Amino acid sequence: MKAIEIKKDIYWIGGIDWDLRNFHGYLTQRGSTYNSYLIVDEKITLIDNVKHYLFEEQLSRISQIIDPAKIDYVIQNHIEMDHSGSLPRIMELCPNAQVVASPQGVEGLPKHYKKKWNFKTVKSGDVLELGKRQLHFVQTPMVHWPDNMVSYCPQEKMLFSNDAFGQHIASSERFDDEYPFNIMMHEAAKYYANIVLPYGRQVQKALETVGTLKIETICPSHGLIIRKYIPEILEIYKKWSANEVDKKALIIYDTMWGSTRMIANSIQEAFEAKGYQTRLFNLQNIHISDIMTEILTAKYICVGSPTLNNNILPTVASFLTYLKGLAPKDRVGLAFGSYGWGGQSVGIVEKILQECGFEMLDQIKLQYVPDKDVLNEKEKQLIEMIK
Ligand code: FEO
Repeated sequence: MKAIEIKKDIYWIGGIDWDLRNFHGYLTQRGSTYNSYLIVDEKITLIDNVKHYLFEEQLSRISQIIDPAKIDYVIQNHIEMDHSGSLPRIMELCPNAQVVASPQGVEGLPKHYKKKWNFKTVKSGDVLELGKRQLHFVQTPMVHWPDNMVSYCPQEKMLFSNDAFGQHIASSERFDDEYPFNIMMHEAAKYYANIVLPYGRQVQKALETVGTLKIETICPSHGLIIRKYIPEILEIYKKWSANEVDKKALIIYDTMWGSTRMIANSIQEAFEAKGYQTRLFNLQNIHISDIMTEILTAKYICVGSPTLNNNILPTVASFLTYLKGLAPKDRVGLAFGSYGWGGQSVGIVEKILQECGFEMLDQIKLQYVPDKDVLNEKEKQLIEMIK
């Protein structure tokens, strides 16, 4: 439970959530951290907090450095409870500290915690003097809630980015250069796809501002602190926020007796014939949040369900609900499935994909066990449609 000095008198004092596996529907196989930072200057400043059940861990780390009663400022870059849950307990120890947040943050915190703390509202361009250092604030609404902001210390070239650039990783390592690069980037992608994806335009706006700053260290509020791979993470955020996709097609389905799987296999053959990377996902075997990681860079999203009780299978319904909420842009969809008599499933899938705003290819709907010649014909037709 050691505090980690990032730069002289600037410490990581967060909490490590080794057990976390579910972040409101997002499967977090590697756990997470809630990063909290302490700047020891003329004004003692705490940046962000941790989930409520990791308060003791955070406090233990703070107490290794200073008496918590000496904290002057608590910067709350974001009020979601993973970053503010320990705030009430912290404020019991330093009741005169000022709680610094955006206008939406100052409005939201009392609604969460029913407390009247000494609030200080800051907006983009405002500067807080800490002594030798300053914190400059930039509001980044919807990355991830309306209240989000980032704090930048120009003297240290450090950006405290909160949810932006985060990864759900629990580890004893604190820095990007101490941890496998590919796993970190995979988790950054999964995080973006499952948390930030609906807000691409807002991310681009935030990147424009961040791009003007000299940054040597990015201190996000989840996962590893980034000091080596800053160009890489900024570049990939530009790609993701611009909805740039790879030549990749996903075929996502569930099946009752194997017929929808046969159609899925034919669709995959068609995309491979056109030189696409493909991923075939049976919803019985993969978590929807892992599919989202692939959707982040996939152009074609093909979804299949047989008809069950005039409807679609529950696994497919769950995936489509999640997909619609995360709202990837500029994708092409295809609905497919087998049926016995009613055959409603393909139309239901198609309607939801249309509601996602996807351009649609002609649906593929086949009765009972598909005939091989019919499948070959459908495959040929699909090859013609794929750009
Ligand atoms: Fe990590 Fe939006 O909270």
